[in-house]
Amino acid sequence: MNLAEAISSLEAASVAARELLAAVTNLAAVEEIERDFLGKRSVLVSVNEAIKDFAPEDRPAAGKAIGAYRSEVGALIEAARDGMSAGEAAARIERERLDLTIGGRPQERGHLHLITQVQRELEDVFVGLGFQIAEGPEVETDWYNFEALNFPPGHPARAMQDTLYVDLGEQEQVLLRTHTSPVQVRVMESRKPPIYTIMPGRVYRRDTLDARHSPVFHQIEGLVVDEGITLGDLFGTIDAFTRSYFGSSIKARFLPSYFPFTEPSAEFSVTCIFCEGSGCTVCSRTGWIELGGCGMVDPNVFKSVGYDPETVSGFAFGFGLERMAQIRFGVDHVKAFFDDDIRFLKQF
Ligand code: DAH
Repeated sequence: MNLAEAISSLEAASVAARELLAAVTNLAAVEEIERDFLGKRSVLVSVNEAIKDFAPEDRPAAGKAIGAYRSEVGALIEAARDGMSAGEAAARIERERLDLTIGGRPQERGHLHLITQVQRELEDVFVGLGFQIAEGPEVETDWYNFEALNFPPGHPARAMQDTLYVDLGEQEQVLLRTHTSPVQVRVMESRKPPIYTIMPGRVYRRDTLDARHSPVFHQIEGLVVDEGITLGDLFGTIDAFTRSYFGSSIKARFLPSYFPFTEPSAEFSVTCIFCEGSGCTVCSRTGWIELGGCGMVDPNVFKSVGYDPETVSGFAFGFGLERMAQIRFGVDHVKAFFDDDIRFLKQF
């Protein structure tokens, strides 16, 4: 080997090392290249050994070429090693990563309570018949809940209402409304006829919880006041709404009854939806299920709101929403509506 051959083999090795290092993918490969190009059997060592046979004037140039090769290839290897070890560390971290995220719980979407659904559906039925919707307060005065509705003080019909009184103002003058009928009075006080309005809401009674009674429940009240309203309009309206809510095979029936604020008064029932009228245990073998009360507005009620009973007439009705829902969905205990048991509520 002479100087020219030594320089060209160092240059060729340097080019080869650069090419190999550019394509390297792991640390072990970098180390192998280092052995091949700088190690005991590399071109570096063979050139180094050959120097002693060179002409003395060629030796410094050969030494310089060896130094240049060592530092160039050494720097390339260092750079590759740094790149590989950073990349490999990142790869190991990625490989050994522990997934500590907890499996998510799917968010369940709620929906309206069954009673609210029933109320909205009935509101839709009445709005379809041309009625408006009104609401009144749950804490009422004796005047709205009783007096204006023709329940004089001491009247026996008051005792039927199992009133819960509120400890405010004069004794027994403030109460939790026992029915939605006081809203009739508020609507008539605030407006002139014609009135076609329904009044849904929560009512309270001093009742013990059983399958059909709860101390808090919901009613829908209806009131129509116009010129020439008759009992036929009342019956026709109740028939129309029960058919559109329960289906056309269901009929409404009226039996004479008594309420101080209507005259004449009736209670209305619908064909038992369980036996379709043939008689079963739910309807006590009568074929009918009682829904609520109704009647023609008593002239005394018109007088207490300043309407002239000679020029207007009207009818009213009221029924319980829980009862409607129990009948329609076969819920045997009213308590289910207030227990907040998600297993029950989810079904509707
Ligand atoms: N308010 C009565 C009750 O709670 C139900 C009722 C009966 C309402 C006759 C009426 C009616 O509007 O005309 O038991």
